[in-house]
Amino acid sequence: MKKKLVVLSGSGISAESGISTFRDAGGLWEGHDVMEVASPGGWHKNRALVLDFYNQRREQLNNVVPNKAHFALAELEKEFEVQIITQNVDDLHERAGSTNVLHLHGELKKARSIGDASLVYDWEKDIQLGDLCEKGFQLRPHIVWFGEAVPMLDKAIGISREADIFLVIGTSLVVYPAASLVEYVERGTPIFVIDPNKPSMVKLKNCTFIEKKASDGMEELIKVLFQK
Ligand code: OAD
Repeated sequence: MKKKLVVLSGSGISAESGISTFRDAGGLWEGHDVMEVASPGGWHKNRALVLDFYNQRREQLNNVVPNKAHFALAELEKEFEVQIITQNVDDLHERAGSTNVLHLHGELKKARSIGDASLVYDWEKDIQLGDLCEKGFQLRPHIVWFGEAVPMLDKAIGISREADIFLVIGTSLVVYPAASLVEYVERGTPIFVIDPNKPSMVKLKNCTFIEKKASDGMEELIKVLFQK
């Protein structure tokens, strides 16, 4: 039976594809205060600004491609049962060929009704004010904003508990509850962290830190995994 490799990815894995990380640019995200564009408060204050912001992010996805790190993870499915838990709202893991991807913070290419959260639609184009769900409510980006519940959390915790190997790649691990997932990994399960900057949790036992960018870090990880 294949070993279960569970991956927690963050914006750093998409950096080499040309998508900005959140905290490397001094708290600004693509020139915006994150709370203005990624919180229920921001939405109430200025829906048009929030829609425009995510419309630009969705558009940006058409101009970027997965990088070596995304492809390496997809390739690892030949040898491992790979389950990716990503905080990213892009679709680069899927486009690289990964088949088990859980989006903890939502997906740019989906829209959701503000009146009925169960109404989620695949959405490639812009979301405009006046775009409505079938029940007549405005559509919003299918993104988990600051202060909102994380519906996929319990599923992600279950997956983390079952890991034979746990990989953290490209996340500062400062946003909870996503960052808490490492705490559910069974004691004794090896944890690898790939990041050019050391996240504070690297003090965890059984943790090997690979201080590299995602693509080079994946190359090194693969060497380590196949030595064993
Ligand atoms: P952060 O910006 O907090 O962290 C990005 C991490 O990627 C940092 O640790 C960087 O050192 C690392 N990094 C930068 N370039 C890299 C590269 N080329 N290869 C590998 N790592 C690199 O972003 P996240 O941890 O993803 O939430 O942020 C978590 C959440 O905060 C996001 O999902 C988002 C944000 O608010 C929502 O949108 C709900």
